[in-house]
Amino acid sequence: MRLKTLNSRPCASKLAVLYEQNGNLVNYQQLASRLSVPLYDTVVADKLETFFLTWRDGSLKLFDKESLKKDGLAVEIEHRQGEQRSWPIAKTGALAQALGRKTKTVVDATAGWGQDSLAMFRMGYEVQSIERSSIMAELLADGFSRLSKLDWMQQLNLSPPKLIQGNAIEILSNLPDQPDCIYLDPMFPPKRKKSALAKKAIVVLRDLVGDDMDKELLFATALKTAGKRVVVKSPNYAEPLGGKPNESFHGKLLRYDVYLTQNKG
Ligand SMILES: C[S@@+](CC[C@H](N)C(=O)[O-])C[C@H]1O[C@@H](n2cnc3c(N)ncnc32)[C@H](O)[C@@H]1O
Repeated sequence: MRLKTLNSRPCASKLAVLYEQNGNLVNYQQLASRLSVPLYDTVVADKLETFFLTWRDGSLKLFDKESLKKDGLAVEIEHRQGEQRSWPIAKTGALAQALGRKTKTVVDATAGWGQDSLAMFRMGYEVQSIERSSIMAELLADGFSRLSKLDWMQQLNLSPPKLIQGNAIEILSNLPDQPDCIYLDPMFPPKRKKSALAKKAIVVLRDLVGDDMDKELLFATALKTAGKRVVVKSPNYAEPLGGKPNESFHGKLLRYDVYLTQNKG
């Protein structure tokens, strides 16, 4: 049954909120209303929507129609496998090298599933996360809220990264405080149409938000704004986004290109 229909926005036209008789209906109504998408209480095969948002097991999750009976995708807030269980963890690896020893504050201008924001947060950087997709911003807000309730976060009196929803190209120029580093991980076209190596979360994200066609403009804005450096994460097959970088650090199948800046705050 369709509970309520609101005008769809183009970016959200593939999405509906799904109420599975679980939890407070008002939360679902408010989510559907914030995203201007329909709210359903069952999934009918001929519905046009490809994606559904619903709360399961205490997390807001994104499902595609095929995976509705399986686990959906939520912002993962736990430490990664093999990572120290403390805070802050050691600043090691290619990401930390790319961020540089003098960096304290980072704006992640392409937050997505929040995994890089959270990796930087766990290393003790002060992180702000910008995301323009309102759907991804809802998933991030839910993840950051779950993070804030974890025991270790409360014991250490920590707040999760600050989330800003909107287009970083506009937001970066109006930040009240200049960050040391602006971190970019825009969506690059895949090397092959279907890669067995591409993670489900990235495949779904690409399907939902598409490739980031304005990444050059985002880079140019970041370069004018960052106090000390811009770090661009890209697949190792892609050309550097801003021409020859000052330094590059290599991870598995990816690269962090570093562009040094000297902008005064
Ligand atoms: C490849 S994903 C980032 C994945 C992320 N690094 C992670 O760890 O999950 C790119 C994300 O950046 C967002 N994005 C791209 N351009 C943006 C912009 N100009 N402003 C804000 N968000 C942007 C897209 O909506 C998408 O969610």
